[in-house]
Amino acid sequence: MRIPFIAGNWKMFKTKMEALEFADEFKKLYGDTDVKTAICAPFTALETLVEAFRDTNIGVGAQNVHFEEEGAFTGEISVSMLKEIGVDYCIVGHSERREYFGETDETVNLKLKKLLRDSDIIPILCVGENLAQREAGKEQDIVINQLTADFAGLTHEEAAKVVIAYEPIWAIGTGKTATPEQAEEMCALIRNTVEKLYDEDTCDKVIIQYGGSVKPENATEIMNMDEIDGALVGGASLIPSKFIEIINF
Ligand code: PGA
Repeated sequence: MRIPFIAGNWKMFKTKMEALEFADEFKKLYGDTDVKTAICAPFTALETLVEAFRDTNIGVGAQNVHFEEEGAFTGEISVSMLKEIGVDYCIVGHSERREYFGETDETVNLKLKKLLRDSDIIPILCVGENLAQREAGKEQDIVINQLTADFAGLTHEEAAKVVIAYEPIWAIGTGKTATPEQAEEMCALIRNTVEKLYDEDTCDKVIIQYGGSVKPENATEIMNMDEIDGALVGGASLIPSKFIEIINF
């Protein structure tokens, strides 16, 4: 049985103080739920959130990490640094990092290996096509190629731990959501690709999220799709009442 997993991605929003305000309000609204949840926040707010959510089962995630243990990599953060803070998750290969910060499938692969081999931090791997690729009918090839390169060299046990977020770039922050059928089709393709790369047992275990303009109004129909186990939520995760509504889909 795969447990639904809904994570927020705050991107470059919220200072420590704002994160604390969010956490206080969110904890008040957070009731009994079978859904796993986490907030992926900027590095500067991680420790504050880990502390604020200590007595809850709300997880905390980073949005990026470096693949080396340590070294002369100005501006980067290591897996050990995240481990020491007590972070549970780490987004890897978000399309904004691929587009603006030179993230490639090669660095994504190295980051997955580092996280899985040197920590218990669960990677949330983002894949997805852009608008031109979808319009050219290439979305399936793009996602299969990303997954194949990103998972290269991972064992069955390692692969089963990775959360995969299907995020069509044309639906991120645009208000344009993929239809539940489009999202389901791609999440089914992702599960099928994991089966081909590994086996049925591995693909049954893998949690697959949809991301791209998820909001309270569309969360139910997205979460009700068979192959979609969760959501990666950007904008709507910044407001406690909205994020709670999504979790309580
Ligand atoms: P959005 O972002 O929900 O604001 O579209 C999703 C994401 O980029 O993870």
